[in-house]
Amino acid sequence: MKTDSEKEYLIRAIDAFNRKIIVVSPDFKILAANDYVVQTRGMEIVDQTCYEYLYGRSEPCEHCPVERVIRGGRPALTYQADMLPYAEKTLCFYSYPIFSGTEIDAVVMLDFGIPVLECLEEKLDRSNAFLRNLILSSVDGVIAADKTGKIFIFNDAAVEISGYGANEAINHLDIREIYPGDGAREVMKKLRSEEYGGKGKLKSYRMDVLTKNREITPINLDAAIIHEGEAEVATIGFFHDMREELRMKKELEKTQLQLLQSEKMASLGKLAAGVAHQLNNPLGGIILFTKLVMEEYDLEPATLADLDRILKDAQRCRDTVKELLEFARQTRQEMRPHNINTALRRTLFLLESQALFQNIEIDRQLDTSLPMIPTDIQQLNHVFMNLILNAAQAMRGNGRLTVKTGLSPNREMARIEISDTGPGIPEEILPHIFDPFFTTKDEGEGTGLGLSLVYGIVENHGGKIIAGNQPEGGATFVIELNIDSRPNSSVSSSISSSSSSRAPLNPL
Ligand SMILES: Nc1ncnc2c1ncn2[C@@H]1O[C@H](COP(=O)(O)OP(=O)(O)O)[C@@H](O)[C@H]1O
Ligand SMILES: [Mg+2]
Repeated sequence: MKTDSEKEYLIRAIDAFNRKIIVVSPDFKILAANDYVVQTRGMEIVDQTCYEYLYGRSEPCEHCPVERVIRGGRPALTYQADMLPYAEKTLCFYSYPIFSGTEIDAVVMLDFGIPVLECLEEKLDRSNAFLRNLILSSVDGVIAADKTGKIFIFNDAAVEISGYGANEAINHLDIREIYPGDGAREVMKKLRSEEYGGKGKLKSYRMDVLTKNREITPINLDAAIIHEGEAEVATIGFFHDMREELRMKKELEKTQLQLLQSEKMASLGKLAAGVAHQLNNPLGGIILFTKLVMEEYDLEPATLADLDRILKDAQRCRDTVKELLEFARQTRQEMRPHNINTALRRTLFLLESQALFQNIEIDRQLDTSLPMIPTDIQQLNHVFMNLILNAAQAMRGNGRLTVKTGLSPNREMARIEISDTGPGIPEEILPHIFDPFFTTKDEGEGTGLGLSLVYGIVENHGGKIIAGNQPEGGATFVIELNIDSRPNSSVSSSISSSSSSRAPLNPL
């Protein structure tokens, strides 16, 4: 129990308070008011109705705070917007129930004062703006819809994913339209279930959205139901665009496959070299003994002719084995003066007997006055092999392959030209052909590594390579190599702008 002096102080404190404090009965009668009210109005107010005293009305207001407090049994904040058009002056009341036991006996209304409210509003505005910015700048699409499906939040990332403009979506688009088929219902079902991240939540759910252009875009969805009290009032979804991730995953899988393929090719090369080595000795034996038989026995001319055929074929086998060994020899980069024409002849020798080259006419225009060029011949063989094979593949085994050597117009470089009569290289792919793994060939037919290997080797030689098309059709690859032995001397190692601008793979 409060002492009389305590009560006295409380009353004085309430009177000293520079805000209106009014106590109102449940039937809107003013039961008491502090001095501040009396002073500002200068009239007797007790027993008047609050609506009459405050707003000059003859009946209770529509958004009556007293009724709200009595109905809810809780404090209520009412401000000018609620009371318009009754309030001429800006008013804001914090109303609080006064209980007598469990019943509400009266309601005390405290005039909050506009400066306080303005300050609150400003803070609210600021935090709203911050939240809006947060949502707008989110890298994930943020879409919120009310319980009828009407969209009311649609940020920039959502625009990017869906193709709908924010103005098209907000208040106009139904959330059901951005999911293909029955997607929206499915999401709601999952949201209301316990199993996908707890009731009212859906975590990291892979699904598709339907763009404005009726295209399917894969996304990862995190969503939640927004409640007000017990009632579901809205849903909010965070849409993570999966296109780039899925593309990268696919690319990675392809790269892994291709690496596997190139490893397989490398081990096949080693195997071939091993087999060639094994064949060398018996072939030597066949050649030697055939010669001996031919020389030491007095044979019929027909038998001699047969033996000569054996000798020639065995010699051809030996040459093939020799070339193969030379070609597949695994050595470190070794820059030595070499005859480019011989290297080209060797590569052509190995290739021309293959089925792919049966209907290809080979035009050799080799300049025999070409000086020796400092190269790693092993690697240069790879270059020629790749370019010639590409040409034959482009011509589908039918056409003319021209291999030309000579000096560059300024006579400072050795120039090698490999041209075909195939369909040529489409302009749009020209900038990409030297990219590692770029291929237009079917899975299993091309690895897309050939030209990037070629580029890397030529660059290591301080040379340059240019890809282009001939006016009469067909592709041409031109390689220029330094004649002197300083690899990166006068020549830039760049390739023509029409060829590529990407980082090449180092030679394998
Ligand atoms: N002579 C050519 N004519 C037409 N297109 C070519 C020629 N050479 C290369 N290309 C194009 O360049 C692409 C890349 O070649 P490359 O790196 O050797 O890989 P791959 O031969 O495995 O496809 C080829 O898929 C093809 O589209
Ligand atoms: Mg190739």
